[in-house]
Amino acid sequence: MKKLPVKYFLNYMLRPVEESDVKDYFLIGSDEETVKFLSWYPFKHVEEAVIHFNNLYFSDEYRDEPQGYAIVDLETNRMIGVIDFHTTNKILKSAHIGYLLKKEYWNQGIITKAVEIMLEVGFKELKLEKIVVRTIKENYASRKVCEKNNFRLHNIKKNNYYHGKTRTYYDVYKYVMERKVYYDSKAKGNL
Ligand SMILES: CC(C)(COP(=O)(O)OP(=O)(O)OC[C@H]1O[C@@H](n2cnc3c(N)ncnc32)[C@H](O)[C@@H]1OP(=O)(O)O)[C@@H](O)C(=O)NCCC(=O)NCCS
Repeated sequence: MKKLPVKYFLNYMLRPVEESDVKDYFLIGSDEETVKFLSWYPFKHVEEAVIHFNNLYFSDEYRDEPQGYAIVDLETNRMIGVIDFHTTNKILKSAHIGYLLKKEYWNQGIITKAVEIMLEVGFKELKLEKIVVRTIKENYASRKVCEKNNFRLHNIKKNNYYHGKTRTYYDVYKYVMERKVYYDSKAKGNL
């Protein structure tokens, strides 16, 4: 796994996830509202979180992906969320970003800022050409995070995500930031 640099913003730190973070992952992912739009059900037992967390961040399948970040509250030194690159494509030099934040911390601009850092890491450290976020129409907070980071709405795919929990098809919004656009905007002071 490619290790990413530790980053600081506001009162938080992005550092590579550690196996011991699973206790906090359980707390974050056991809340029903937090996982409402995600493919999995809220954790009932810590063992479920362990399997999920290990598959996501420590399994062989993910050894070629950049290491996931834990978002850590520097006051409590606890993990309050995760943010990562996934679905990296070495030929296209692209990757997707995924994120999840503990509910008590929502709507304070934390993920907007964390995504801003991911753009910097993705283009500067990983030399990506394109960074993508996919989210469903109804996830307004996630869409707003992309918009606040000046992502371009690349397309909307109707009924492109089947959500097993609600047995519903959702429209998927694909947001893209290209390397050139990123650096041009930075030069103009728009980022
Ligand atoms: C999506 C998520 C990561 C956002 O994190 P966050 O740190 O709360 O996001 P921010 O505070 O940076 O920005 C959220 C923005 O959405 C807005 N928002 C939140 N809920 C909204 C709603 N229902 N309708 C419209 N806007 C909404 C907030 O007001 C804020 O905008 P503002 O700064 O202009 O006021 C968080 O809600 C989360 O973890 N959700 C569950 C997991 C998830 O859905 N992950 C994404 C999968 S694609």
